[in-house]
Amino acid sequence: MPEKLHALHEAFQQAVDYRAHIQDRDCAPQKTYHEMREIFAEPLPETGMDDAEIIRSLVRDGDQGLMQMAHPRFFGWVLGASHPAGVAADWLASAWGQNTGAHTPSPTTAAIEETAAGWILEILDLPRRSSVGFVTGASVGNLVGLAAARGKTLREHGWDPDADGLIGAPELHVFIGDDAHTSVFSALQHLGLGPRRAIRIDADRQGRMDPRHLRREVDARSGPKIIIGQAGQINTGAFDPFDDLVEIARDSGAWLHVDAAFGLWARANPDLKPMTTGLDGADSWATDGHKWLQTPFDTGYAIVRHPEDHLRAMTTMASYLPVTVETDRMPSQLVPELSRRARGLPTWAILKALGRQGVSEMVGRHCAVARHIAERLSAGPDLRIMNEVVLNQVTVSFGSAESDAETRQSLTEAVIDAAVATGQLFVGGGRWQGEWVMRLSVISHNVSIADADITADAILAAWETIRAA
Ligand SMILES: Cc1ncc(COP(=O)(O)O)c(C=O)c1O
Repeated sequence: MPEKLHALHEAFQQAVDYRAHIQDRDCAPQKTYHEMREIFAEPLPETGMDDAEIIRSLVRDGDQGLMQMAHPRFFGWVLGASHPAGVAADWLASAWGQNTGAHTPSPTTAAIEETAAGWILEILDLPRRSSVGFVTGASVGNLVGLAAARGKTLREHGWDPDADGLIGAPELHVFIGDDAHTSVFSALQHLGLGPRRAIRIDADRQGRMDPRHLRREVDARSGPKIIIGQAGQINTGAFDPFDDLVEIARDSGAWLHVDAAFGLWARANPDLKPMTTGLDGADSWATDGHKWLQTPFDTGYAIVRHPEDHLRAMTTMASYLPVTVETDRMPSQLVPELSRRARGLPTWAILKALGRQGVSEMVGRHCAVARHIAERLSAGPDLRIMNEVVLNQVTVSFGSAESDAETRQSLTEAVIDAAVATGQLFVGGGRWQGEWVMRLSVISHNVSIADADITADAILAAWETIRAA
């Protein structure tokens, strides 16, 4: 074997060893960012070193600063757990070194991505003629969907922003729920639509948009309009009332885009799917692979019902690039970047590894685990579950309702720290409904009801100790 390939073997062995023993590790990193910065702050090497030794030193020096995000009891943010089939396919995507911007230079990876795109539409039961761009995550998925929306709605009012920009364009009204995710506001910023100009629509205690308020605001304005809905609120998992949103969009000629970073996957489970009714009537959707499908980072999907608007918003043309034949899917024409890795491979591999039934079972199990944790915790004293657990998200505030918010915040933070310090799990915090809460997001592919019990026991024991102090 040529010496240069030793690094691949070393990385393979180190990766397998890490994943085989992940459950024996503390979930949280053992060293802080600042400590790791000290370790890695070294001068630019003047001469090269042995490839395999680089990988060994990476593991040796970096190990203590790893968060065990693929651990079954990792409940931080909303992050999937990098399924081994997807990781393995991702390795090959890198080892093969295939630039999947165009289809002719990399027929295998472009063809696989096309198949995976079709499977995504099928498993999520979205209109089968929609176009699917493989992006880095839901943030860019939102950007792409909203770029298509911007083009279509302005062209209908005599202006082509994709050619002429926004200076002098008719005013475009954007309507968005009060509890929308920050990434949607970033997309508005990047697209020159100004997050501050967006018309905020009241939301209820679960973060769902009020359709009556939306209707009033939409009816009060003329001109091009975009409505941004949400499937899976980041703290509650709740869904906007999509039947109403679709009707309002249809009546007003608005484009309906949905940020569905994780909630869209409820459609893969027949018991949960009814919560998403109407969602398939939208014009575009952004969702993640690296959340509920468990692909390694970074994989997301920008899905647009109207492929011509999608292509028009994203297409880069240059004389040296292959010309698109109408029926052929050109990967780069559906995303902002040109050169990119074969992002479709992990999606394809995981859908093969789990199948339709496996994805359905996993999503259903995660929601059952979330309900179980919430039920177990709610039996504890002086704490409140702050959301209706409709999906996989649980938020908890510690401290009696009679105490002030500051006291509850410090108690909640103390419980989070104590629970994480056990090493058995990872949970984070966040603000919801004006309250500082512990957030648990159940989305790690191999989490079980037994893990739910370990988690609830650890959190309740931490709370007991803090109450007694
Ligand atoms: C509802 C929602 N939308 C968008 C995003 C952004 O997704 P990503 O970080 O994959 O770009 C998230 C991330 O947690 C989310 O929960």
